Parts: sequence; C-alpha cells; structure tokens
Amino acid sequence: MHMHKPIADSAFRPKKIYMEIKSARFVISNTDVRKCPQDGKPEYAFIGRSNVGKSSLINMLTRQNKLAMTSSTPGKTLLINHFLVNDSWYLVDLPGYGYAKRSKSQQEKLTDIISGYILGREQMTMLFLLIDSRHPAQKIDLEFIEWLGENGVPFAIVFTKADKLTRSQLHSNIEAYKATLLEQWEELPPMLITSSEHSVGRTEMLDYIDNINKTL
Ligand code: GTP
Ligand code: MG
Repeated sequence: MHMHKPIADSAFRPKKIYMEIKSARFVISNTDVRKCPQDGKPEYAFIGRSNVGKSSLINMLTRQNKLAMTSSTPGKTLLINHFLVNDSWYLVDLPGYGYAKRSKSQQEKLTDIISGYILGREQMTMLFLLIDSRHPAQKIDLEFIEWLGENGVPFAIVFTKADKLTRSQLHSNIEAYKATLLEQWEELPPMLITSSEHSVGRTEMLDYIDNINKTL
C-alpha cells in the first residue's frame, strides 16, 4: 500500500532572522574626535596592531570590498573613518598601533588620535580589539588591554585571519590567549573568531552588534 510521506518538518520551521546590512556608506574621515558625526548614533570601533585586519573586517561585514581601504603594507589607515550602516549605527575604522617603521612623531600623533577617540567618544558603544590568531599574546596588545581596563572601556576581542590556521592550531592559540589573560583578569572579555578571507564569524559579529543595539 502506498504511504504518504510525512511532510518534512523543516519546511515549516521559521527562518532564523539574522541582522542584515542593507546599506553601508562612508561618511567622514578625520583626525579630530570633535569633528566626528554629531548625530549621536551608536558606534562600533575597530582597533588593533597595524595589519591585523581591521579595515578588511569592516569590508567583510558590510560585503563591500572597497569600503575601507586595506593594504598588505602596515600603516594604511591613518584617520578615524566613519561608515554608516542601515542609516542607524556606525562602524569606525581606526589607525593601527605598533607599526615599528613609523617616526616617533607620527606614532605620537596616531596615539593621540586613537586615545582621543577611545576615551573621548561617548557614542562608542563597543570597541573591537583585533588580535591576529596566528601569534602568541604580544606585549603591546596586553598593555593595550590593560589600558582599556584601567579606563573602563567596553571591549570585545576579535581573533582575525582564522583561515591561516588549522582548526586545532586555532583552538590551541585561543586557549593559550585566554590563559594569558586570566593571569591578569578575573573574567574574560567576549571573544569572536573571524576570517575576512572566508567570511567566518560574520553572522556572529552582526548578531553581537544587533543585540547591543537592541539594549540601547
Ligand atoms: P592598518 O590600517 O595598517 O592598521 O591595517 P588593518 O588592520 O586595517 O589591516 P588590513 O585590513 O588593511 O589588512 C592587512 C592585510 O591582511 C591585507 O593584506 C589583508 O588582505 C590581510 N587580511 C586581513 N584579514 C584577513 C583574513 O581574515 N585572512 C587573510 N588571509 N588575510 C587577511
Ligand atoms: Mg586599516
């Protein structure tokens, strides 16, 4: 006797709705936090060593490969760059720190721009600190994390370039990073894993931002 197949229940499950980026556009670049947009919209800023992948991550999240300028040579981003997303919040690309080939005066200028923004920008809802997942914890990043802690800056760690490692290397590097942080900190900050090359972590990062936006 012919039996009707039960209707696959997957067809009846509601689609999970992820936050989607409908529009993303460049608004302004500048060196002075006082000249940043004054509309009060929340901002998610990207910081980390030169070449860690800040600008690439902004392009990956927005799916616009040329929105933020990237380069294989460190020191590409030298300004505070605001990108407006869905007409309601900003992604902010900051210059990197720790590029050894800069002159002392240029490095000091960049440090002023970075700290002026991070400490002075009330709209900065969350700072994403990018860490290259390939390397063991670097002194410069640990010192930067300490500085964030001292100043009460809300931050999350984003491991970048995950495509350059095997799963097990990635896992062990991140576990080692956590262990290093736990020597100084009682709790770990939120952590995300990304590859701009393979769009890894995109949904997780957008959901993370969306959940914060919903609390504002
Ligand atoms: P500065 O602006 O100089 O501070 O650098 P940045 O942090 O903005 O880095 P950027 O996005 O310009 O990327 C630096 C280099 O790393 C570029 O050659 C990118 O193509 C490469 N890169 C960035 N993210 C990834 C990634 O997820 N995977 C791989 N394989 N390469 C990446
Ligand atoms: Mg950059």
